[in-house]
Amino acid sequence: MSVLPAAGVISLARGIPSPDMFPAQLLADCARRAVERHGRVALNYGPPLGFEPLREWIAERHGTTADRVALTPGSLIALNFIVRERFAGGGRAIVEAPTYDRMLRALAEAGAGVVTVDRTDAGLDLDRLQALLREGERPRLLYVLPTFHNPTGRTLTREQRVALVDFAIEHELLIYEDDPYRDVRIEGEHEPYLHALLYERGAEELALFTSSFSKTVAPGLRVGYALLPPQLAAPIEAMATHTYVSPPLLAQAQLLEFLEGGHLGPHLRHLGGFLGARRDALLRVLEDQLEGVATWTRPDGGYFLWLELPASLDATELNARAAAAGVAFVPGAGFFAGERGAGTARLAFSYPSVEEIDEGARRLATLVREAR
Ligand SMILES: Cc1ncc(COP(=O)(O)O)c(C=O)c1O
Repeated sequence: MSVLPAAGVISLARGIPSPDMFPAQLLADCARRAVERHGRVALNYGPPLGFEPLREWIAERHGTTADRVALTPGSLIALNFIVRERFAGGGRAIVEAPTYDRMLRALAEAGAGVVTVDRTDAGLDLDRLQALLREGERPRLLYVLPTFHNPTGRTLTREQRVALVDFAIEHELLIYEDDPYRDVRIEGEHEPYLHALLYERGAEELALFTSSFSKTVAPGLRVGYALLPPQLAAPIEAMATHTYVSPPLLAQAQLLEFLEGGHLGPHLRHLGGFLGARRDALLRVLEDQLEGVATWTRPDGGYFLWLELPASLDATELNARAAAAGVAFVPGAGFFAGERGAGTARLAFSYPSVEEIDEGARRLATLVREAR
């Protein structure tokens, strides 16, 4: 018997967790303990960069000191603070093509000039980067999504990371590494963080990092964080103070209970299995139905894969027909600065059930085959 609503639109568009992924009972226990143990601090206003014991927990995990850790209500606000600080008065940013669409929006709102470097299976095009550094104004940062990249699902190999870090050191280029999906791993081994490689080489001033517990624990907690290079700590602290005085300390204390209770590791393993079944359901249909017609990435984790359609197909037009057929995805063009990516699409496998993914992907594949 089908578990699908007859006329329901299946969303391969929403890059959000399925509610079935949340460790709800554990978080309920952690909320109570957080109030009981930390309530006198966590129910009050507090430090603008967040709940001190969680800053320390994160600092230890990343091999840095707590004064470099800024806890923010989700990492998107850290991203916006960073963009506002770095691009006050203009300046150029280098982003990958494609890249996270909200970064493009933040840069546009700040009035930053955006130049791009292609991100493919081969990593970042370092020759292009070199050319960008030779021409025009010096870029104020390079924004990179190294692991389970949004929107493509691609991950930089260790060699690609080392080459990028060598390049950054040689050219004194600030690397902004946004890596919220890294721990959402279905299979394979972790690659080193870019900031860790930079720290090892004594280049802390070139390392800027954001991540989040949104993808690993629950976005409703709104706990994101930045690891700031020394020159950014004071300006970001001032922005946090002026914007919200202090972030939601209670959610941070609740999360700390979860982390100190040793629940993260087992939860991440559970998540890997949960998402693996969904990714595999999507890949199975693509392999069955679209082999030789389209190409796609096969991510080892994260929420997304990237579909490259036959040359004649426009993903925005396809999306309109898909809505009528009861499936939604995100056309890829919005992840590019400028007019590119018409024949690409981001498919998310984090939200629907395995049955819905199977059905949604079949509906989409049928449309692609018919339209070819
Ligand atoms: C690449 C990337 N960065 C940052 C974020 C922001 O996440 P949050 O504000 O929930 O931490 C997201 C969420 O979709 C994302 O995909």
